[in-house]
Amino acid sequence: MISPSRYLVTSALPYANGPLHVGHLAGAYLPADAFVRFLRLSGKDVVYIGGSDEHGAAIKIKALREGTSPQAIVDKYHAMIKEAFSQIGISFDIYHRTSEQIHHETSQDFFRTLNDKGAFTELETEQYYDEEAKQFLADRFIMGTCPRCQHTEAYGDQCENCGSTLSPTELIDPRSTISGETPVLRKTKHWYLPLENHETWLRSYITNGVVEGKEHHYPEEWKKHVVGQCKSWLDAGLQPRAITRDLDWGVDVPQDIEGSEGKKLYVWMDAPIGYISATKAWAKEHKKDWELYWRDEETALVHFIGKDNIVFHCLIFPVILKSYGGYNLPVNVPANQFVNLEGEKVSTSKGWAVWIHEYLKDFPGREDELRYYGFKIMPELKDSDFTWKGFQDAINNELVNNLGNFIHRVLVLTNKYYNGVVPVFDESISISAPQEAGSPTWHDSELLDLFDKLHEYRSHIKAYDFRSALKSLMELSTTGNQLLQYNEPWKFEKTDPDLVKVVMNLSLQYVAALSVALRPFLPFTSDKIQEMLALPVIKEKGEFMDQMDALSEGKHLIAAGHKIKKAQHLFSRIDDEEIKAQIEKLNGGTKDKDAHAVNGIKEVSSFEDFAKLDLRTGTITAAEKVEKADKLLKLTVDLGFEERTVVSGIAGSYDPATVVGQDIVLVANLAPRKIRGVVSQGMILLAEDKDGKLGFVAAPKGWTKGDVVR
Ligand code: MF3
Ligand code: ZN
Repeated sequence: MISPSRYLVTSALPYANGPLHVGHLAGAYLPADAFVRFLRLSGKDVVYIGGSDEHGAAIKIKALREGTSPQAIVDKYHAMIKEAFSQIGISFDIYHRTSEQIHHETSQDFFRTLNDKGAFTELETEQYYDEEAKQFLADRFIMGTCPRCQHTEAYGDQCENCGSTLSPTELIDPRSTISGETPVLRKTKHWYLPLENHETWLRSYITNGVVEGKEHHYPEEWKKHVVGQCKSWLDAGLQPRAITRDLDWGVDVPQDIEGSEGKKLYVWMDAPIGYISATKAWAKEHKKDWELYWRDEETALVHFIGKDNIVFHCLIFPVILKSYGGYNLPVNVPANQFVNLEGEKVSTSKGWAVWIHEYLKDFPGREDELRYYGFKIMPELKDSDFTWKGFQDAINNELVNNLGNFIHRVLVLTNKYYNGVVPVFDESISISAPQEAGSPTWHDSELLDLFDKLHEYRSHIKAYDFRSALKSLMELSTTGNQLLQYNEPWKFEKTDPDLVKVVMNLSLQYVAALSVALRPFLPFTSDKIQEMLALPVIKEKGEFMDQMDALSEGKHLIAAGHKIKKAQHLFSRIDDEEIKAQIEKLNGGTKDKDAHAVNGIKEVSSFEDFAKLDLRTGTITAAEKVEKADKLLKLTVDLGFEERTVVSGIAGSYDPATVVGQDIVLVANLAPRKIRGVVSQGMILLAEDKDGKLGFVAAPKGWTKGDVVR
């Protein structure tokens, strides 16, 4: 495909089980937004799709944890995420959700069609079943000890301590997170996508861009790390992938298909189809034909995602699309790597993140500042780091001192010298050497340079190199500042007003160019400049191409005689206090300690839920280390009326000998749990400080054992 006439652009659908943070934004949303805004400025037909991913075990778990329903969870976070996107200026044409009817229908149509075509295999396997909760357990519902690092809180699919990918049957002492019981293996039947049958064409698609003789993309345009990751999946040998689950939350396997009872589509089967259902919903609302955007060969499909989603978008979803038939395959999947925070991995559960909704509250009116820094640290080829100091420096040195300063000076001087009217100038005036006959004037040759710079900026965007594109615009602003600095209008306005007119007219052309070219990155700023210049509101309908055409024909972007408005400041400095407050807020979360209460208070719990706990006073009467577990002590607790054995993770803070005789409070009715082979009959209450140090919670001296705590 040489130059597509139409684009369908998507950003990964975020799970509606938590708010958005800066890592999300810089990973999959800012680059896509810049890309689509640029395409619109270039007069292209583009639809930009977003939406919430509302299915999957993670949402079910969040609901269980918060004592509410999955629907309540997705309703809450969908609204919150949608609002944050809109405020930070992510210009989706539609922000849909996978709980919509049309999505269930579309996904079921895919399932049915693939099933009819024989694209699936069915397999019976043994999976963990919770006999108490009477349900099969998704990987995420099983916890146990990691066979690699002995971490006791590993999930069925992954250990977050050592990063290993696991399967539930590898866990030592598995337990159900629903009931706390030890699950049993039971037979269950599922549908699988036999990825191994697609290996040949996938390899050609990824490495050459060619499928069945047809060119889909130029391989050199794909990011190396994306191709690299796909190749390593291919080289490792693709495996059949289960695309159904035993769950009660998600898209039903169509009820008329045999064996569908109790089965839902695997979330990674339905979520990418969400891009299609969202397009249908958008098309319906705007009386367009959705099929043009998915099935017409003139349309380029581009997916913006984070690196953890590569296999789903580059291998699995293409297999689904091709198996269905008649769909385009992505022409590019420009995945980004991850953004760290102050040198540490972002951890949402530990509150180590910069949340977008909180940024918007703490820095009102500074949407473009966050966007700017997001582009500046965009992890295009490798992981990057968000630091509050880096944010402050970028805003103060680059936006305030460079860009804001240039534009403000130009507008102030234009108002001062010419009462706001763009000056007419004498074309024969040159700044340095006298003009040769026939050569462009100094003013015009500078405009040609401007054209070249904008051309360079455009090439960067086309290559998905957004950092460089923004950098070339900042260089334009630097050039503008130098233009003023070298020619010092403030000095020569009295003695050489004709020269100053040339300089000021040229500077205004720069500002006009920036007002459009900045828009993909800083849309709010673009609006403000356009307003100050008294130019029409940008509708993103080809304005960039209009400017390029004008420049190439030697025309000006803002005409002599046009009257502009008063100058206003675009940016203001971020002071040390604001940055200090953010860093303190962050340290209210924990960098690397496991279970510290983070980011304020947990969700509201009902009194009924609290009252279910039976808390009792007691005394530790014996303690010993648990073999092969650094953090665990096996304790004997005397409750007066009975003795309990409790496994507690306090070995990091206390030696066994020092805890005997210690008064404690025990959660006495917690479901028993087998930990490293020992059945733990309760949990001791501990206070944890922000460095992870633990201290016992106890009743005042003189209380007897077995007293109720409430
Ligand atoms: N919800 C997934 C995540 O946050 C992304 C889904 S992208 C889509 O990792 F393809 F499924 F839509
Ligand atoms: Zn581990």
